[in-house]
Amino acid sequence: MDRTFVICKPDAVERGLAGEIVARLERKGLRLVAAELRAIDAETAATHYEEHRERPFFTELVEFITRSPALLLVVEGPADTWSVVRALVGATDPKAAAPGTIRGDLALDVPANLVHASDSASSAEREIRLFFPGL
Ligand code: RTP
Ligand code: MG
Repeated sequence: MDRTFVICKPDAVERGLAGEIVARLERKGLRLVAAELRAIDAETAATHYEEHRERPFFTELVEFITRSPALLLVVEGPADTWSVVRALVGATDPKAAAPGTIRGDLALDVPANLVHASDSASSAEREIRLFFPGL
């Protein structure tokens, strides 16, 4: 089995959409391996989004992802789970995300695009280790 990392971001929890997002992942056939509602601290957020440190939106992104609790998930599927989840999540900008995707159906703008999902097998491994070191 193959695992990936997902965050129902603070906007998802605030809007009461965490259950809807988990349901979509489960209906696809993915299985929950870990789930925790947690307020992400600024240091962990900065490490998580390290690749964006020099981007103009980095400060806004860290403030957003830490503003209230997020639902952290590890999900499992038969293979290429990161890619399966990214397809369900849709494009980064919800305005461009296809209908049928989580962002396409339920969000309107960045940074509040509801979900984070690992963008490669190596990102999935790194992020699972960062957020669930005991797993
Ligand atoms: P994520 O990492 O959260 O799964 O999103 P992603 O791969 O689809 O997009 P990425 O390029 O990694 O961007 C990370 C998050 O930063 C926020 N963002 N804001 N203001 C902006 O122009 C902007 N661009 C990106 C979004 O919350 C995006 O998901
Ligand atoms: Mg990303």
